Amino acid sequence: MAGAGATLVLGIESSCDETAAALLAADGALLASVVRSQVELHKSFGGVVPEIAGRSHVEHMLPVLEETFARAGRKPAEVGAIAVTVQPGLIGSLLVGVSTAKAMALALDVPLVPVDHVAAHVYSCFHGVAQPQFPSACLVASGGHSTLFEVSSPTRHVKRGETIDDAAGEAFDKVAAILGLGYPGGPIVDRLAAGGDAGRFRFPRSLLAKESLDFSFSGIKTAVLYHCRGQDGRGRRQLDEREVKDVCASFQEAVVDVLMTKLGRLADRIGARSIAVGGGVAANRRLRERAAELAEKNGLALHLAARELTTDNAVMVAGLGRLLFAEGVRGGLDLDACARAIAPPPA
Ligand code: KG4
Ligand code: ZN
Repeated sequence: MAGAGATLVLGIESSCDETAAALLAADGALLASVVRSQVELHKSFGGVVPEIAGRSHVEHMLPVLEETFARAGRKPAEVGAIAVTVQPGLIGSLLVGVSTAKAMALALDVPLVPVDHVAAHVYSCFHGVAQPQFPSACLVASGGHSTLFEVSSPTRHVKRGETIDDAAGEAFDKVAAILGLGYPGGPIVDRLAAGGDAGRFRFPRSLLAKESLDFSFSGIKTAVLYHCRGQDGRGRRQLDEREVKDVCASFQEAVVDVLMTKLGRLADRIGARSIAVGGGVAANRRLRERAAELAEKNGLALHLAARELTTDNAVMVAGLGRLLFAEGVRGGLDLDACARAIAPPPA
């Protein structure tokens, strides 16, 4: 049972292939954060295998929690609320986090706070920022999402655009697979692109309708496929090291161009005072550079998620959960996980 001074917020994240937990103090200060990545398990399959992900979460959830408390030098009895990712994601993965959170909430007699994973990525842009500027035009680009939001506070946002096919991170991963570079592709393409010529190949920028805030990345991906394997996509042309780097740089530039064009369009439309970028792809160095240029050019504040908060983590879950808890959001022991964000986002 939690004691009277139980004020810590515990965050639990297990929506995809990272088992993560974080502890925040009542004032939001970070006490500990642990992320156990499953990348090694999924590597040989070239993508996340849901069954393997679920099993690995079962194996690692309690050790990750123990390590989080040990690193913070705190005890479960000091926890005052438990925030947990309930949607969207792989259902077998989400259920591990949700069941663990429920068991702890019951044992400690503390409230649960349901958190939407994408809302947590939005929040990550504003975590620890002393004076965030709203309204903010926010891009969340990850392996599962490429979405634009109009954000009015760290807990409130409205969706304004999204991908109609692949997510940006998915395109990075698929292009890396086409080039035989390994998984996950984003960080590898990012690294190789740094030594490549972004102007050598002109891959298509799909901007859809003139006013559209939606994205499409399947065309860019297919253009890279044709470039490497010929028009039937089956050839096996051997690219030398220089060409691989130039393809990475040219592809990355095309994706970043599209992301920044739409983010700028949203910022204009809503009279934004800032732009914000979060999600795994926000780790990309070129994207961070271009976002800074966009903000500067338009006289806007820039809220980039801290590098360690871009890929999946539980700090963003605990952080958003802490604010939602203060706003009165609670989940009961009947809380359920949801693969798609069909339930209205808690934020
Ligand atoms: O947010 P995240 O950890 O998981 C999801 O919610 O999907 O994002 C993972 C995605 C992967 O597709 C990965 O390739 C991409 O983010 N990513 C990057 C970089 N680091 C991770 N993409 C481009 N450049 C990077 N440096
Ligand atoms: Zn994510």
